[in-house]
Amino acid sequence: MNRTLLEYTLRVRVPILIFVALASLTVTYFVSRPAREGIGYAPTQPIPFSHKLHAGLMKIDCAYCHIGVYRSRYAVIPAASTCMNCHTIAKKTSPYIIKLTKYYDEGKPIPWKRVHRLPDYVYFSHSFHVNAGIKCQSCHGNVQDMNVVKQVSSFTMSACLDCHKNAPKRLSYIPNIKPGPTYCVACHR
Ligand code: HEC
Ligand code: HEC
Ligand code: HEC
Ligand code: HEC
Ligand code: HEC
Repeated sequence: MNRTLLEYTLRVRVPILIFVALASLTVTYFVSRPAREGIGYAPTQPIPFSHKLHAGLMKIDCAYCHIGVYRSRYAVIPAASTCMNCHTIAKKTSPYIIKLTKYYDEGKPIPWKRVHRLPDYVYFSHSFHVNAGIKCQSCHGNVQDMNVVKQVSSFTMSACLDCHKNAPKRLSYIPNIKPGPTYCVACHR
């Protein structure tokens, strides 16, 4: 390589190469971040159901609607019939309640959009976390203050492991809480 070509390579080509590499790394990092961590995801729902109103102001117990939390893997999204326990009377003339009643009368499930979702190859269950005394808020944030549910913490492998290792510190409101498991087959069975 002659001198001028070497100089051209060092002064022009190398910086361009470094710039392109850094730029594409940065772009990939930010573009793929919501997909990896999901923090901030708050989809618009078919009916503007407010947790702030129902769970916050009216203080309806989370498990009244999410009936699976103590006994199954899934918390369960309530069927329209649970809503109709009150809404056959409450706010009957609201356009949202008219829409809700239509789903109920036609026997169609309300197409709620999922906020949190783990990949199929991960084993997670609400029951053993909730029965150990872990509050919903430790994982989902202050849902009772949200008009629209939003994902507030990430559920990546390192996030699960971080709480498992540091449970006594992270969950100091539970006396004698033991760390969660960190061996692979606990979560990948
Ligand atoms: C324990 C009774 C109860 C249950 C169960 C209940 N709601 Fe409500 N809901 C109310 C009451 C009472 C209001 C009216 C509050 C107010 O504005 O005075 C309300 C208000 C609403 C509103 C706002 C209506 C408007 O136009 O202001 C929507 C939407 C709604 N509920 C949807 C639902 C859905 C969907 C479910 C089921 C997942 C549900 N509710 C379950 C009692 C209930
Ligand atoms: C009156 C019924 C009702 C009560 C009470 C209620 N929820 Fe919900 N919850 C719903 C409905 C309906 C949805 C689906 C629509 C949505 O995401 O807003 C939902 C969605 C959620 C989601 C998001 C699920 C997903 O898609 O990933 C979380 C988390 C949640 N609720 C937590 C709570 C917590 C914590 C409490 C108690 C503080 C609570 N809920 C009380 C009806 C209820
Ligand atoms: C240890 C963390 C943790 C705790 C505690 C927790 N959740 Fe969850 N929740 C999750 C994760 C992770 C998902 C996604 C699960 C999946 O995709 O299978 C989820 C999903 C949900 C969903 C939607 C899917 C489903 O399971 O039906 C609802 C509703 C929900 N949680 C409500 C609650 C309520 C109510 C409580 C408290 C009684 C609670 N969660 C406590 C981590 C937690
Ligand atoms: C806020 C803290 C916290 C978070 C976040 C959390 N866990 Fe846990 N988990 C615990 C604790 C504490 C235990 C042990 C409970 C006990 O000993 O009763 C546990 C237990 C478990 C167990 C063992 C159940 C058994 O006894 O067989 C599995 C599996 C598990 N968690 C999976 C997960 C997965 C997957 C995630 C992430 C999506 C997760 N956890 C997130 C605190 C957490
Ligand atoms: C506390 C629960 C937990 C334990 C223990 C755990 N994992 Fe995971 N693992 C997860 C979760 C949750 C995901 C999904 C991560 C995501 O979607 O970002 C995952 C994803 C993975 C993936 C897919 C690639 C990736 O990084 O997304 C591999 C491979 C994996 N785990 C291997 C392991 C091995 C090997 C061990 C043991 C050293 C282990 N896991 C222990 C929860 C766990």
